Amino acid sequence: PLPAPEKVSMLFKLYCLVVMTVVAATYIIVLRYTRTMSSEKYFSTTAVFLTEVVKLIISLGMLSWYVFILEEVVYKKKETLKLCIPSLVYALQNNMAFVALSNLDAAVYQVTYQLKIPCTAFYMQWFSIFLLCGGVSLVQWKPMEATAVHVMATAVAVLCSGFAGVYFEKVLKSSSTSLWIRNIQMYLWGILMTFGGVVVNDGAAILQEGFFFGYTPLVCLVVLLASMGGLYTSVVVKYTDNIMKSFSAAAAIVLSTLASMYLFELHLSYIFIIGTTLVCISIYLYGLPQLENKNDSDKQELK
Ligand code: C5P
Repeated sequence: PLPAPEKVSMLFKLYCLVVMTVVAATYIIVLRYTRTMSSEKYFSTTAVFLTEVVKLIISLGMLSWYVFILEEVVYKKKETLKLCIPSLVYALQNNMAFVALSNLDAAVYQVTYQLKIPCTAFYMQWFSIFLLCGGVSLVQWKPMEATAVHVMATAVAVLCSGFAGVYFEKVLKSSSTSLWIRNIQMYLWGILMTFGGVVVNDGAAILQEGFFFGYTPLVCLVVLLASMGGLYTSVVVKYTDNIMKSFSAAAAIVLSTLASMYLFELHLSYIFIIGTTLVCISIYLYGLPQLENKNDSDKQELK
């Protein structure tokens, strides 16, 4: 039997959504900046790996009873094994963000990345994606100088995001195991998976140059933002759901587009603005019926 969902105030949910969104938007901008503006290129796989380490340390800090970890992680091997799948998918997704943002403009990436929303919907239930697809293709109307590999990287990140998000929410909400235990289980796998990425992709070069080659305070900020963003994402999914998480995407697009204008002197074309507006409207339209259904079922429960 599942325990009754923990009640938190609307204000707390709003706070988590806002922090998650602002952190996500800042992360994309700073990541892009470190990949394009600094002269020495750090190994991006090490940043993804360090993010998992930071998140594990913070998650451990959230628990006051360390004995519990032994019981929940070590003794319940089957439960821990479940988290291996989203952790692998997130490891891939997080590495792809670096590949994509090394070459795609931050705003274009952010908007295209929102394809994760219909993707999430696809994994959850059917939804018409035409409006969003229309918007995204308008945004990308002017042929970009992106090679197929960077578009592919974004596509992989999009597919991973939808799948892993729904998978994690299902695992989290189908048992009474706490969020922090679930996170610890996933980040342990995450450390293993992303370390695999470090060795396979950059192992030889790291032996020559060192693990922290090219690290600047800004790169550390990228790791910190990725960690904070991930932890807030997990809290948001716990107290709301993947749909509410998608809502904040509209705000993220606007934020990162505005920031891009200042930082990279990006000039917005009318087509870009129309495309972005379409994307935002579709996010809104998508979330609305879901929210109403949810309210209805809440009312039913009250009766
Ligand atoms: O863009 P999206 O919302 O799918 O990104 C989710 C991010 O949050 C990923 O970087 C993933 O590693 C992180 N995450 C996390 N802990 C969770 C769920 C997601 O760190 N429980």
